[in-house]
Amino acid sequence: MGVEYTSVQWNRQKRLYDFSLVGGVALFLIAFASLTKIFFPYITDEILIIRTFGVAAFVLLHLILCIGPLCRLNPKFLPLLYNRRHAGVTCFVLALIHAVMVVATYHAGSDTNPILSIFVSSPLTGSVAGVPFQPFGFFALVILFLLAATSHDFWLANLSAPVWKSLHMLVYAAYALLLLHVTFGALQGEASPVYVVAMTVGFVTVLALHLTAARKEIALDREVQPPPNDGFVDVCAVADIPDNRARIVCLSGERVAVFKFDGKISAVSNVCQHQNGPLGEGKIIFGCITCPWHGYQYVPETGASPPPFVEKVPTFNIRVANGRVLVHPKPNPAGTRTEPALIEK
Ligand code: HEM
Ligand code: FES
Repeated sequence: MGVEYTSVQWNRQKRLYDFSLVGGVALFLIAFASLTKIFFPYITDEILIIRTFGVAAFVLLHLILCIGPLCRLNPKFLPLLYNRRHAGVTCFVLALIHAVMVVATYHAGSDTNPILSIFVSSPLTGSVAGVPFQPFGFFALVILFLLAATSHDFWLANLSAPVWKSLHMLVYAAYALLLLHVTFGALQGEASPVYVVAMTVGFVTVLALHLTAARKEIALDREVQPPPNDGFVDVCAVADIPDNRARIVCLSGERVAVFKFDGKISAVSNVCQHQNGPLGEGKIIFGCITCPWHGYQYVPETGASPPPFVEKVPTFNIRVANGRVLVHPKPNPAGTRTEPALIEK
């Protein structure tokens, strides 16, 4: 949904995003394959393809995992989030090419079913060096497939945002499986310290960004609220909220976005119905709260998307007194009309 209430189909920003994605992946594949050929001139073409696509998928997964926390830490990264799902599907396709080449090269030549062969070709030896690493890759690929297959908004609408979000949290399980896959597999074969250093740098970066973003989020939720007044809680001064923007406050464990616009103040849930984007980090455009992630819009007074769209978020009763903004912590059902508080002159 766009700021002028039309469905977002292909637009210039999406094309630019996908062009950069495909261009970046193509450059990476060419650069990695060329360097591998220079440093390992006797490598076979099959193994070159297996390695190049496996590493490309793994690197892209790191970038995908970093986008979320980067956007929480600095809104300048928001354009990267806009079409993150296409990056996810690209990651799956790269991983699939890697896996198909592995199966064709190592598992298709015997009487054993090639998929079964992934599980039985390296029997347990009891030593760390002999840990069968390919099943980890198999299960990670199954998860990546599940995520790619359900990435379209059709599934988001049918599964509901919370279920879809929980399902897509499986990306962290896939990442954990891949850390095991690469550690026990490629790292054992390749004694090169470059692999060990690259893996460690990747893991530490993903972890550090998530921990830093989590600290920022926890600080937001811990914001101390002054004692309630008639059930209403004093959340901030009117002057603390920039025009056409919001302040996010935490009330009864829920994040609430308190918007100031046209001399009025309204409060709605901070959670966008699309993919749980932070509405309070968006702004008022054409009179509507506009989600910073993909542009879904909501009328501030009702929490409902303008027709023909049907998304709704809960609203909160609100007052302004002595230059302070007071919000009732009990949410109204999603889409309930709530009078905005007029800002005193
Ligand atoms: C059915 C699924 C999979 C199988 C059977 C499989 C199998 C393998 C094998 C046999 C290797 C060693 C290749 C060699 O150096 O000769 C390998 C390495 C690797 N795999 Fe997978 N894999 C699977 C899924 C994945 C997925 C989903 C990813 C990433 C998203 C991935 C990423 C990697 C990486 C980064 C390496 C290290 C490449 C290197 O040696 O330079 N694999 N895999
Ligand atoms: S528009 Fe996608 S999360 Fe809000």
